[in-house]
Amino acid sequence: MRTALLGAARSDALRRAVTSSPATRPVVSRFVAGDDLDAAVRTVRELTAAGLTFTLDHLGEDTTSREQAEATRDAYLHLFRRLADEGLTAGAEASVKLSALGQALPRDGVRVSTGLAAELVAAATENGVLVTLDMEDHTTVDATLETLRTLRAEVPTVGAVLQSMLHRTEADCRDLATAGSRIRLVKGAYAEPESVAFPDKADVDRAYVRCLRILVEGQGYPMVATHDLRLVRIARELVTRTGRDADSYEFQMLYGIQPAEQRRLAEEGATVRVYVPYGTDWYGYFVRRLAERPANVGFFLRSLTTR
Ligand code: FDA
Repeated sequence: MRTALLGAARSDALRRAVTSSPATRPVVSRFVAGDDLDAAVRTVRELTAAGLTFTLDHLGEDTTSREQAEATRDAYLHLFRRLADEGLTAGAEASVKLSALGQALPRDGVRVSTGLAAELVAAATENGVLVTLDMEDHTTVDATLETLRTLRAEVPTVGAVLQSMLHRTEADCRDLATAGSRIRLVKGAYAEPESVAFPDKADVDRAYVRCLRILVEGQGYPMVATHDLRLVRIARELVTRTGRDADSYEFQMLYGIQPAEQRRLAEEGATVRVYVPYGTDWYGYFVRRLAERPANVGFFLRSLTTR
């Protein structure tokens, strides 16, 4: 079911059917802050009032034109100005998908997306906002890490995401566990072939622990991004054992998932960052959230049929 759903994330026909149905809205709003920046700002105000910090994702991916890629950059520039105007930049972060900046454009996609990302990172830095590059499917990892290296030459705080489901990730963790390196560790949300990824969830979880150990024992800044409470517990044990200070790592969770746990961890003194997506291009993001938990699909289908 997960693979079928993740395939659906790339279907234009399904995208049209799902996004045009008003019945989907209440379910989507569990995971997406809203269609526009006003909604995003309202959400981050609520989160900061509850002692949480945030990373904002202007939704979009798989851009097919240079104009669209530039529009994505502009949306982020607008976001940074708005956060500054609202006095919300302290500890703020933005998450960016390089495919939204044109990474897959034919011929010069990597050059285009790296250039636009550099403009975006410069503007974020001017406004005191951090940036992390989201990680997409395995075919993009080398290009994304190359872009990361280019961006870090100017702004060393640029973060990246590594996915424990990929066989290569332990080695990537070793390479990137260097001083100041902000690395968000996730399990991985894309359908991947067995040639590059662990097919069994238990193996993905075990790999997560191995990667976590490398990052926590390393010199960088681990961002432990999971709703798996067993892994959260293991992370807490590891940071205690290694004597890490509370400000040398953080937990991250997605908007709408385990909100009580997000608050509980923050109340215990941990830094907890909530990933807040906003915008109209929510389809791919939403389908990945459905695929993560079969119960979500039933809930979604019921909401369609009970209207
Ligand atoms: P797991 O899937 O085992 O879930 C553990 C528990 O959390 C479940 O039992 C359930 O209770 C709850 N839960 C998890 N997902 C849920 C859902 N959708 N709905 C309701 N409950 C749910 N991936 C990627 O490939 N590239 C990226 O850049 C990112 N970025 C990212 C940022 C942040 C801050 C987070 C937290 C996650 C990502 N991800 C990601 C997604 C990640 O790869 C993964 O798919 C999800 O976090 C789900 O995996 P868990 O670690 O939560 O474990």
